Order: sequence, then C-alpha cells, then structure tokens
Amino acid sequence: MIQKPKGTYDVFDIQGKKIQYLEKLFACLMEKYNYEYMRTPLFESSELFHRGVGDSTDIVTKETYDFIDRGNRNMTLRPEGTAGIVRSFIENKMYGRASSPVKCWYTGPMYRYERPQSGRYREFYQMGVEVFGSPDPIMDAEIISIPVQFFRLLGLKGIKVHLNSLGDQESRKNYKKALLEYFEPHIETLCEDCKNRYQKNPLRILDCKIDKDKDVLRNAPKLKDYLNEESKKHYEAVKKYLEALQIPYIEDPNLVRGLDYYTHTVFEVEANVEGFGSQNVLCGGGRYDGLVETLGGPKTPGVGFALGMERLLTALEYEKIDIIKNQEIDIYVIPLEETIKPYALEITTSLRMNGFITDIDMMNRNIKSNFKQADRLQTKYVILIGSEETKTKTLTIKNNQTKQEYKIKEEQLIQFFDQNIEEDIHETI
Ligand code: HAM
Repeated sequence: MIQKPKGTYDVFDIQGKKIQYLEKLFACLMEKYNYEYMRTPLFESSELFHRGVGDSTDIVTKETYDFIDRGNRNMTLRPEGTAGIVRSFIENKMYGRASSPVKCWYTGPMYRYERPQSGRYREFYQMGVEVFGSPDPIMDAEIISIPVQFFRLLGLKGIKVHLNSLGDQESRKNYKKALLEYFEPHIETLCEDCKNRYQKNPLRILDCKIDKDKDVLRNAPKLKDYLNEESKKHYEAVKKYLEALQIPYIEDPNLVRGLDYYTHTVFEVEANVEGFGSQNVLCGGGRYDGLVETLGGPKTPGVGFALGMERLLTALEYEKIDIIKNQEIDIYVIPLEETIKPYALEITTSLRMNGFITDIDMMNRNIKSNFKQADRLQTKYVILIGSEETKTKTLTIKNNQTKQEYKIKEEQLIQFFDQNIEEDIHETI
C-alpha cells in the first residue's frame, strides 16, 4: 500500500469540519479588521527565500524542499508565507495604492523538511497576516491583537504573549558588533552550526537549540542594551498600546525568532498546555521594515504574523474546547418511490438554496432504514414525498425529535422552515 509522505497528514471526518470552522472564523475576523485576502503560489524561485528568510536560518539551510523544474529553474516549496506576499506586493506594485496601509491575510500549506514530531509537520497550514506601509507602533499592537482576539474568541485560556524588540537596523548593527566581539574567544565551545552562524549572522547563535543552555549564551550581551533611542521609543509605545488593549505580555530578551527579516517588534503567542513544549508556540510574528527593500521594492515598513493550524487544533483538544457544537443537519428528504426522485431532488435543491442544510436519500433505502439514517444525521426534520404528495403539492413533514407531523403546501415550505428552524449561527462574530 502506498502511504502518505512522512510528516504529512490527511484531513477527513470531524477534523475537516474543525478546520473549515477555524478558517471561516478567521476569515470573518479579518473582514471585521478590514484586511483583504491574498493568495500566492505554493512554490517560488529559491532565491526569494534565500534573500527573504535569510541564508543563515535553519529554515533555508536545512529545511527547504528544493527542486529544479523542467525549465532548469531552482524552485522551492514555500516554507512560510511572508516572502511570497512581499514578492507579490512588489510585483503587483501594491505600494502605489493611495489607501495605505495595505493590509492582507492568507491561509495555506507551508513546507519544511523538519524532523516530524508532535506539533511539527513537513506540510503544515498557517493562517497569517501582513501589513505594508505603516511604521507606527499602533500597527504592531493591532497585529499582536489579532491572534490574541482569535484565540480568545475560540475560548482558549492561558494565552501568553512573549515580546521583544530587535531594534532598527542601526541598533542591530551595533549589537552584531558586540556579539562578534563577545563570542570570538568562545568560538571553539560552540556547536558546528553556531561556528557558521558566527560568520553569517551571530544573532542566530542566540536561537541555537543545541547551545541554548550554555553559560556562554546566557551571559551574552543583551539586545536591549543596544537599542537606540528611536527603537526604545517604538518598543515602549507598542507596550503601551498592548496595555490599552488589555493584552498581558511577557518581555523575553532572548526571543530572536527563526527568520532573518525582523526589525523592532518580535512576538510569539503561546498556549498554556502542560507537556506541550515548543508545540505551545501557536503563533509568531513581528516587524520587518527592511524586507520589501531587500527583495527589490521601495523602502516600505511591514509587520505581520502567522499561526499554525495544527497546533491550534491540538491546543483546543487539550483544553477540551469543542468548536463543532452542532453537527446536525436541518432537513432529510425521503422520496418514497423511484418516480418521485426528480421532484424530491428539486425540493432538496430549493431548500439548500434557501439556506437549509439538506440531504436526500441516495441509496434507495427502505423507509425504516431511511429513518435510521435520519437519526444518524441528527436531522431536525424529515420530509416524506410519495405520489400523493407530488400530486397535491402538499408535503408531509416530520419533526425528527418530537415526531410531530405537519402537512405543508409546497409554496409555504420555506416559510415553515424559516419559522421553525433557528438560524444556526456558527459565526461567533
Ligand atoms: P514561524 O514562527 O516560522 O513564522 O511560524 C509561525 C507558526 O507556524 C509557528 O508559531 C507554528 O505554530 C507554525 N509552525 C511552524 N513550523 C511548523 C511545523 N513544522 N509544523 C507545524 N506548525 C508549524 C513564520 O512563518 C513567519 N512567516 C511569521 C510572520 C509573518 N512574521 C511576519 N509575518
């Protein structure tokens, strides 16, 4: 038997409903925040990620799915969404819009060749947001507030926001110099990867999973001591806005994030599930004021985040939050004879088009097993259609819970269900 690739998974049954619910809720929330939907290709030129995400990151050096296409081009399955969105922002000259900032959201699969483990897949889904054009710290706060409000809407408790500032390019340059000087006498004690990182981007050493508990890392200079006045001002303002939004945060001076494009604010949102480890990180993001320029566009500030769908689902399961409260359907249609089927199908379609979740027997069941099927589907109402009903255009409707029966004229059918079936508002907002 051919099996699915390692680190991937299939979606079916209740999981499919949950995912659709989360995507719908997120889309709904994004509408309220006035963000536009964007979609970019699953694969891009490899160079985009080398320049965008960074040559010294684990993502680019160890985790990309690279291939050469039949036209001999180097291509990469996207390991994250930001670089592609920035490419599209530049290519489609979205910076020319009068209605700045450009605020967009996206969802879709990402690919990283990581060691599969719980909460870590090779194909995983993100929902994310990117904003271009606003350098104001209020924008950073709005970005942080989106996943927090989303998680709150879902009922997740114990959400923690970890916050840090990497400062602007000048602060980063000064800090990089300090790190190079600090690590120089310790190079030999670092792991092989960190020796490379020392050459390419010493900031990455702070994010090393192997060396992270060594004293040499713990005692390294702290970024906050190298922030210039402007960076400090920006960071303080972000914190003030978060306080106004009543979003508690934990300042984490070691939070550098695994991608190279960040400036100023970086953040991660964690769930609080015991034994979850790094899986607790549901979401990460930050500001990237240099990325549009690095990728060939005009100097444009940017800020965004992405959250991991799989980790969110697991956190919801651990907290026993059942997002699919209502699995029942509204109406189940039973044609009693072969010749009735075209009319029954017509009625079914009309009900669906009027907003009712409707199903019809497609298995030629007898009446008894059709009622069993109606119970399995947890339908609210059953419509029985026989030759009499077809002739008189009067339908027999049965409330599947109370078993009460009604005779309703076809033209009053929609009105009847409008009155008797409460609108099932899945959308919490
Ligand atoms: P990231 O931190 O690499 O950031 O990923 C964001 C989220 O995706 C993580 O917090 C996690 O929930 C999920 N995730 C990452 N890798 C995996 C994996 N292998 N399996 C399952 N879930 C995973 C970014 O991707 C940035 N593009 C975020 C961003 C947007 N920054 C600015 N704008």
